[in-house]
Amino acid sequence: MKLPAKATIYEVGPRDGLQNEARQVPTADKIRFIDNLVKAGIKDIEITSFVSPKWIPQLADAAEVARGVARPAGVRMSALVPNRRGLDTALAAGMKEIAVFLSASETHNKKNVNKSIAETLTAFQDVIPHALAAKVSVRAYVSTVYGCPYEGDVDPAKALELVSKLVDQGVYQVSLGDTIGVANPRQVEDVLSRVIAQHPPEVIAMHFHDTQGTALANVLTGLTMGITTIDAAAGGLGGCPYAPGASGNLATEDVVAMLHSMGVDTGIDLDKLTDASRVAATYVGHELPSKYLKAHLGKQSRARRRSELDG
Ligand code: HMG
Ligand code: MG
Repeated sequence: MKLPAKATIYEVGPRDGLQNEARQVPTADKIRFIDNLVKAGIKDIEITSFVSPKWIPQLADAAEVARGVARPAGVRMSALVPNRRGLDTALAAGMKEIAVFLSASETHNKKNVNKSIAETLTAFQDVIPHALAAKVSVRAYVSTVYGCPYEGDVDPAKALELVSKLVDQGVYQVSLGDTIGVANPRQVEDVLSRVIAQHPPEVIAMHFHDTQGTALANVLTGLTMGITTIDAAAGGLGGCPYAPGASGNLATEDVVAMLHSMGVDTGIDLDKLTDASRVAATYVGHELPSKYLKAHLGKQSRARRRSELDG
């Protein structure tokens, strides 16, 4: 199997993860969570969203989080921005990277940002050039690439069309989202091969939610095609409040464990990462779905029981 020597993990837990939690996680815990991810060696972290607090109350403290986090050299921190107002707040809070977002299906786009796809692309013209002029890097997401919670099947040609438009607007990378976690490896190969026929693979990132347990298989498909940036959320936190049925993102420790066991380097300390997820579960107040985390906690509690018996 042809695999890259290295892969980049783009951690989205503090944003995609926490935006979907019933519990309002205190700002200080969000900052501790991000800090723990940095200590685990993650170099790209999406820390929050500068969206309307009426739409996503969970991330209403975006500016406080952005101002409160330590930003060690070599770590890139990003935030979701839907419009000019979000950009201005993000810039004032010291963000050096932002991500814009739209969907490959009209109905999800409308439910998520209250605009058509065409209106959203037009609105980006009031965001992306200003960000670039302020020397802020811009990433983009295309959601519902592999299926829409409202429309079902999505035309596989839509991803390429939107990637090309976004690259023309100046984004450095487009993350292709399986927002509701319905993609399968054959579909991933179909969509990605169309896109990399026209764009270098480093322009693309993979963003899989793991609703049906296919996220790792989908990542492996993209890796063998030369795509090396993988979005993931610690513990498998996550979901989109405007995508009914969307469950957690691919868990960072699950994908890092698979990559390391295949000899693909990520620069991440898996033990520290797993511990960051264990602590994050206490912030959100429930178990997290990551398989690696569950296995790790099981091992720890068996070892504790054994030493109690021995003692
Ligand atoms: P709207 O209601 O059409 O716009 O929302 P509006 O301009 O009328 O604003 C509504 C209210 O929000 C106003 O307040 C604005 O001032 C305020 P009011 O006057 O009623 O008091 N507002 C803002 N406040 C703070 N920051 C802002 C901002 N903008 C407006 N930036 C809007 C349009 C885009 C704002 C709204 O639809 C929105 O915020 N949507 C965000 C939805 C969202 O974050 N969804 C989840 C992220 S996408 C995702 O999860 C998928 C992804 O992970 C990839 C994948 O999985 O595929 C990325
Ligand atoms: Mg997502």
